[in-house]
Amino acid sequence: MTINVNKPYLPSRDNYIKYIDRIWKNNHLTNFGPLSLELENRLKEYLGVDNILLVSNGTLALQIAYKVLGIKNEVITSPFSFVATTSTLIWEHIKPKFCDIDRYSFCIDVNKIESLISDDTGAILPVHTFGNACNIDKLQDIVTKHNIKLIFDAAHAFGVKYDNKSIFCYGDISTISFHATKLFHSVEGGALVFRDSSHLDYAKSIINFGLKNNIPEFLGINAKNSEFHAAMGLCVLDDIDYIMDERKNIWEYYYNNLKDDYEMQVLNKNVTNNYHYFPILFETQDELLDCVFKLNQKDIFPRRYFYPSLDKLPYFDTSFNCNISQSIASRILCLPLYVGLSREIQDLIIDILKFK
Ligand SMILES: Cc1ncc(COP(=O)(O)O)c(C=O)c1O
Repeated sequence: MTINVNKPYLPSRDNYIKYIDRIWKNNHLTNFGPLSLELENRLKEYLGVDNILLVSNGTLALQIAYKVLGIKNEVITSPFSFVATTSTLIWEHIKPKFCDIDRYSFCIDVNKIESLISDDTGAILPVHTFGNACNIDKLQDIVTKHNIKLIFDAAHAFGVKYDNKSIFCYGDISTISFHATKLFHSVEGGALVFRDSSHLDYAKSIINFGLKNNIPEFLGINAKNSEFHAAMGLCVLDDIDYIMDERKNIWEYYYNNLKDDYEMQVLNKNVTNNYHYFPILFETQDELLDCVFKLNQKDIFPRRYFYPSLDKLPYFDTSFNCNISQSIASRILCLPLYVGLSREIQDLIIDILKFK
């Protein structure tokens, strides 16, 4: 049996069918149907947020965030992320400026941002890396001082609280991914959380072709999600406490067994852990490759995530030289972590990693 870094959570088939039966009854398949509305309302309550909009994935969520805020020229962002954080900027003809990360939190280094700000900077786009909170207070100070926008790529941060409040409540907009590999998912899907409710109304038209009363009033796109996706989201949300408990158990078992052998991400103050990923840091890339080889021989496939550092990708700007991000990207490995991962497999992984 192959063990991958991730295994999408599949809820009870019977529960899914119950939701699907409602689609047959309603004959409403997409375009803001009743299941999508129900999912939005339940997420509002579960997360403790007011202005949430479901979209078809976390990539479009980012692109819509730039459109809603009118971001045009330059954005300062983290090179230690999934490629979509930066590719969405290029896709919207915005120039990404890479700011290096902090070597402990793996989030953007707030002390290096201001030297990158120019008259063309429209926003900062930090990432709550692996669900860890960025230095939110300092970021807020910087954007207020320079009168620019703050968009958090919060794709990994489902359920995280910062200062006892949903982490999605900070910044102008937070974007989330509900991809099948995420701890909460709707197969494909995503969302935006807005500070300002008028931005939500505007975004709702943008994701529906820019239509207002069925007239295309401005440039939009199709980024809606379907009722089938919402049905999966509702089922996964029904099981969310169980999912969180299982992930916590697996995370803590890795942590207790590996904490003396590997350097790990340091969580910021005031942030809760959502146990989304279990990244470990090797001393050298060679050591990492050696362990990956040994794990692969046992049919275990952890993931080099994120690799490479985005400032090394030839189709992005490679002139920024974010040394810390490059160093961490070359030495980081995310271990398998998903509901249903057995203790036996965890022990096998731990044994290989301990006797490197
Ligand atoms: C940090 C980050 N941003 C954006 C995305 C894009 O989300 P999606 O896959 O839903 O388009 C991902 C997806 O994994 C991600 O990890």
